[in-house]
Amino acid sequence: MKVVDGRLEFLNARAGMASFVGLVPTMGALHAGHVALLNAARAECANVVATIFVNPTQFGPTEDLAVYPRTVEADLQKCERAGVDLVWVPSVADVYRRGSAEATSVQPGPLGAELEGAIRPGHFHGVLTVVAKFFNIVRPDVAFFGEKDYQQLTLIGQMVRDLDLGVEVVGVPTVREPDGLALSSRNVYLSDDDRKQALALSRALFAGRDAAAGGARAILAAAHAELSGVNVDYLELRGAELESVVPESGPARLLVAARVGTTRLIDNLGLDL
Ligand code: PAF
Repeated sequence: MKVVDGRLEFLNARAGMASFVGLVPTMGALHAGHVALLNAARAECANVVATIFVNPTQFGPTEDLAVYPRTVEADLQKCERAGVDLVWVPSVADVYRRGSAEATSVQPGPLGAELEGAIRPGHFHGVLTVVAKFFNIVRPDVAFFGEKDYQQLTLIGQMVRDLDLGVEVVGVPTVREPDGLALSSRNVYLSDDDRKQALALSRALFAGRDAAAGGARAILAAAHAELSGVNVDYLELRGAELESVVPESGPARLLVAARVGTTRLIDNLGLDL
């Protein structure tokens, strides 16, 4: 496995790669959810590139950019074990050569201002801009993203179609702890008590799925009943592409965001109506 930091060094290493390149963009602090992405890329692609970059433009002014967990040495070991060929760990200046404030960027469509976007204004603007940049620099055939960030995955799919970026986007199912908690780099912020409270999110989603035969109202009522101990930002049932008009039948998505102690968690689950 080759590890590079500078942009030129990366481009040189990338130029030596034969075709069918899979990309796994990450912000580091890798856990089993990321390893599932790396494994999926390894299984499908002749060459696997991972990036480790904590992208400042997707953090709001009061968010956790400064303290976001940074564990590069351990991350590289996980990449190596997963059979990654090339890891790029760029600096902010490598990625945003003209700075970010004045530079050209990618504006999501209306979905970017809903759900997470309503609570974290500008978040998806930062995500789509950096993902578009990585697509253009790395030039992958396929890119892998977790379903855990389902709105991000949906918006990246929209961006690829709307801007004809020509990259196949693959969603990889969420990895959960045995008790249901979805893996997240932010789980390290949870105290023991928070950790117990956090289970309300996955319990709500599973309760909603179990009530699916009763329709949208029954799903939301069952899910709400599990969320009494946490501070809910939203609980929403949407179409599979996150359309706000939920279809009467077929695939749908139940999404939840809540604050547990000082930590904000999100989770979601696919269900059939
Ligand atoms: O999901 C993430 O870790 C980030 O949002 C991504 C896609 C790597 C962009 O910074």
